Amino acid sequence: MIRGKTILLGITGGIAAYKGAALCSKLVQAGAQVHVIMTESATKFITPLTLQTLSRNPVHIDTFDERDPSVVSHIHLADHADLIVVAPATAGSIAKLAGGFADDMLSTTLLAATCPVLIAPAMNVHMYEHPAVVRNMDLLASRGAMFVEPGTGQLACGYVAKGRLAEPEDIVLAVQAWFARGKTLSGKKVLVTAGGTIERLDPVRYLTNDSSGKMGFAIAEAALLMGADVTVVAGRTTERPPSGVRLIRAQSAQEMLNAVLPLYPEMDVVVKSAAVADYRPVQTYDQKIKKTGETLVLELERTTDILQTLGERKTHQLLVGFAAETQEVERYAMDKLKRKNCDLIVANDVGAEGAGFNVETNEVQIYGPQGLVEALPLMSKRETAGRIMDVVARRLGTGGGGSGS
Ligand code: CTP
Repeated sequence: MIRGKTILLGITGGIAAYKGAALCSKLVQAGAQVHVIMTESATKFITPLTLQTLSRNPVHIDTFDERDPSVVSHIHLADHADLIVVAPATAGSIAKLAGGFADDMLSTTLLAATCPVLIAPAMNVHMYEHPAVVRNMDLLASRGAMFVEPGTGQLACGYVAKGRLAEPEDIVLAVQAWFARGKTLSGKKVLVTAGGTIERLDPVRYLTNDSSGKMGFAIAEAALLMGADVTVVAGRTTERPPSGVRLIRAQSAQEMLNAVLPLYPEMDVVVKSAAVADYRPVQTYDQKIKKTGETLVLELERTTDILQTLGERKTHQLLVGFAAETQEVERYAMDKLKRKNCDLIVANDVGAEGAGFNVETNEVQIYGPQGLVEALPLMSKRETAGRIMDVVARRLGTGGGGSGS
């Protein structure tokens, strides 16, 4: 997938710049033509010679260091890149890109480029969460930039928190995903629900669940990379939605149902990864409930099962449900698939280590009407999402590689 592609690797001046060497090496090993641009600050952390040796190409640092008179380097590099990867991307380089500055070789080339840009931020956690940085990343995402989220761990500044550059292997996976997800869902309309719902009790209290929206957003991103036209109906989430999707916010199960139903007829695929409340308070209060007795009994009533409603009204859509189980995963998943008239059910044992709510990884089994289609090993949610959407593409007959069972 990467073989023969031209990738421009931008390395900016953070301590994680040294990981740029491993990333460069892995991209070259995967068959890419890699051209490296370093900022001056990056050269304080790692030498250009390292990157030149690994990429087998000259490293560019100074816009005015024009070695080939037949071309203007920054335009030439920008025009010939299939993808630009900025890793690590410091807060400063993200700000420059968001603001459209062109005062060094990397920022000038980025401004001249029309190909997609993948950004892997790395910085101190407070910098990563600073409103200015968040705003710059949102702005870039709205312009189509893709992000590889930093990991959580020991930071060079001493904090144990989010901000560590994603591992080079994960950045390579994101690059592969970009090239590989070909266009097997091109022309298809995909609706994804993500996150947890909120069932209000009074103005300051509600019932919700631990869903982060990570899995749903990863599915939306995978579908987008595969060329689909993606709409996301999102409940409560802690994650940033992928750029390039149509995003509709819904709080309660009822609001999610109301958002999904009118869109349903035009959809080719619906993936219901949201964790929808099964019950809501019978009574909601306009004013904050004051404490009175020693106990308080809440009466709950069933919400409408959105997936089941979609199953009943299915005409041509491929309907994918999720089943979060803690025991007898296969039996419950197959029961849900039949009861809710789904075409596929993605099941996971939420009690298992590294699977389920609010973690970066998942381990799922995909079931069809005839039983198990694929059992995926523990892997990142992004990779899991790609594999789920590969099965969807095969079911639609657009993904090649047979239809599975
Ligand atoms: N779901 C839904 N609407 C609801 C509840 C669930 O659309 N009101 C969907 C979820 O989005 C998910 C699937 O149903 O795709 C599985 O949800 P789950 O709550 O596990 O299934 P239930 O059938 O409610 O089974 P149980 O609670 O007994 O496990």
